[in-house]
Amino acid sequence: CGIVGYTGFQDAYDIVINGLRRLEYRGYDSAGIVLENTANSFSVEKTKGKVDDLVNISNNLKGTAKIGMGHTRWATHGVPSDRNSHPHVSNNGKIAIVHNGIIENYDTIKTMLIDKGFSFKSETDTEVLVNLIQYFTDLNAETDFPTAVRYALNEVYGAYAITVMHEDYPGLLVVARLGSPLAIGIGEKEYFIASDASPFVEFTKEAIYLEEGHMATISLESGVDIRTIQDNSKIIPEIQELKLSLEQIEKGGFEHFMLKEIFEQPKSIHDTMRGRLIVNEGVIKMAGIWDHVERFKNANRIIIIACGTSWHAGLIGEYLIEEFARIPVEVEYASEFRYRNPIITDKDVVIAISQSGETADTMAALKLAKEKGAFIYGICNVVDSSIARITDAGSYTHAGPEIGVASTKAFTAQLTILSLIALKLGKHNGNLGNADFMSLISELDAIPKKIEEVLEATHELTQNIAKDFVNATNFLYLGRGYNYPAALEGALKLKEISYIHAEGYPAAEMKHGPIALIDENMPIVIIAPKKGHYDKIVSNVQEIKARKGKVIAVVNKGDTQVSAMADYVIEIPETSECFSPIVASVPLQLLAYYIAVYRGANVDQPRNLAKSVTVE
Ligand code: G6P
Repeated sequence: CGIVGYTGFQDAYDIVINGLRRLEYRGYDSAGIVLENTANSFSVEKTKGKVDDLVNISNNLKGTAKIGMGHTRWATHGVPSDRNSHPHVSNNGKIAIVHNGIIENYDTIKTMLIDKGFSFKSETDTEVLVNLIQYFTDLNAETDFPTAVRYALNEVYGAYAITVMHEDYPGLLVVARLGSPLAIGIGEKEYFIASDASPFVEFTKEAIYLEEGHMATISLESGVDIRTIQDNSKIIPEIQELKLSLEQIEKGGFEHFMLKEIFEQPKSIHDTMRGRLIVNEGVIKMAGIWDHVERFKNANRIIIIACGTSWHAGLIGEYLIEEFARIPVEVEYASEFRYRNPIITDKDVVIAISQSGETADTMAALKLAKEKGAFIYGICNVVDSSIARITDAGSYTHAGPEIGVASTKAFTAQLTILSLIALKLGKHNGNLGNADFMSLISELDAIPKKIEEVLEATHELTQNIAKDFVNATNFLYLGRGYNYPAALEGALKLKEISYIHAEGYPAAEMKHGPIALIDENMPIVIIAPKKGHYDKIVSNVQEIKARKGKVIAVVNKGDTQVSAMADYVIEIPETSECFSPIVASVPLQLLAYYIAVYRGANVDQPRNLAKSVTVE
C-alpha cells in the first residue's frame, strides 16, 4: 500500500492525489482521501479501484483544504471494496487513519473493543487500530491524541506505517513506522509524508526517513517532533538530501513505465558498473565486498535469499559465484527459508537480493540469519531502504527508480552486480587467472552496447511475434545452464502482465513432464545461445518440433541450426555464457510487454500484484 500526507500552503487535494498516482505501484485495488477543511471537520472519500476512480468521486474536494492524507491499497485483510478502503474512521467520527502493513493481533483487540461497545464497518485490521486509538483517548481525558496513538501502537504487533489525524487537533499529522517505510519531506512552510519520496521530490529535496519503532508529530506550528514508540524518548532526526529527480519518475515519452525501463537498460547497467568496473586498470572496485573479502573467502557457503524476480537473479548468482569464486551457494525463497528452521552459522554469508529493499519476507529472513550470526549482505536498488539499512554491508544496483510492477531493469542490474561480485571474488580467491579475468571484464563492459543493439534489432520484431500470440493460453520457456533461470524469468514476465499461463523449465527437464503439453498450439520460447550446451538445445528443439510445438528461439546472430527449425527467430549478439542471461532477457521482456499490450492489459499495474510487498 502507499500513503501520502500533506500540511502546508498548497491545495492538499492536488498534492495527495498526485502523490497517490506516484505510489500506485505499491498497490492499486482501492484508494481514498481525507481532508481537514477550514471548519476543522473531515471530508472522507474512498472507493474500490484506482486513483482515477477516486478522482471521479472526489474532485469536488479540490481547493477545500491545506491538510490531508490519502491511501492506495493492496488488499490484505478484506476484499477490495469501498468499505475496506482507507482512510478508516473511528467510531466517534473524529480520528482518521491510513495504514500500510498488517496488524497481526487485530482479532483479539477487535473482540476486546466489541466488548467495550465499539462496532466495525469493515473487515480490516486498520479499523481496529483506529478504534483502539479512540479507546485510549476516551479512557482518560488527560491522554492527548499523540499519546493515545503511542499507547495503541504499544498494544499491537505486526508491521505498519501509519498516518493519523484527529478533528480536535487541527493541523496535526501523527505518523509512525514499524516494518513499512515512511518518509517525511521538509519544505518551506510545508511538510509531506509518503511511503517513498517520489510524491514530494518536485517540492523539496530534504527528507527524513522515519526509523523502525519511531513516531512523529508534524504540524506547521511545531515542526517535526520524533519520538520512540516504546517510551517516548526524543530523537534527533537526520535530514537527508534526496538524489531522486522528477524526470526519473516520469514516463519520458514512453507509453508505459515498463517500456521506458526496458529501454533504459543500456544506461542502468552502465550505472551499475560505473566506478566499479575499471577495465583499463584491470580491476573491480567494490568496497562492500573488499572490506569483507576474507569473510566471503572463508565462508562455508553463501546463501542467497530473495523473492520473485530477485530470486531468479539469485539463481543466476549461484551459477556465477560457484563457477568463478568456487564458494558453495544455495538459493532460497525468503518465505521458505525463514519458516523452515534452516541451519545457519557464523561461517555463512547470507546475501539478500531485493529491488525495493522492503519485501517483508526477505527482510524477516535476513533478520533471522543475522540473529544466527551470519554475515549479511544486501543487493538493493532503493537507496536507504530497510534491507539496505540492516545489512552488515552491501552493493546498490543503482538502476534508478523502477516503477513498472514487472521488474526489468532492476533484474539486469542485479545480474550485473552478481557478475561483478563473482568475478571479484574469483580473482581474489585465485580461481580466476588474470587472462580470463581480463577477458571477462571486457565482455561485461561491452554488455550495455550489446543491449542497445538488441533493443534496436528486436523492438519491431517482438511486436510482430506478439501479434501472433495474443490469444495463446499457455507458454513454455526453456533454457539450459545460465539461461534456465532466464527462462523462469521470461515466463514470470509473461504471466505477470498478460495473465497467460507460462512456465519456465530447464530444457532437459522438458521430457520429464512438460513435453506432454506440447502440440501445435503450444508456443515454446527457447533460449539457445551458441555458448552453453548448444548441441543439447538443438536436440530439445528437435523433440519439440517432432510434436509440432511452435518454437520462438532466441539465438546468436548468424545461427543456422536452431534457426532452421524455429518458427520465429530472435537474434542477439554473442557474449560469454555467464552474461548471456542479461542480453537474452531483453527480447523476452519486450515480447511479454507487447503480448500484454495487445491483450489490452494494464502492464504497469497488473491485477492483484504490487511492486513492493511489505506483508508476509
Ligand atoms: C513483488 C514484485 C516482483 C518482485 C518481488 C520481490 O512480487 O511484483 O516484481 O520481484 O516482489 O521484490 P523485491 O523488491 O524484494 O525485489
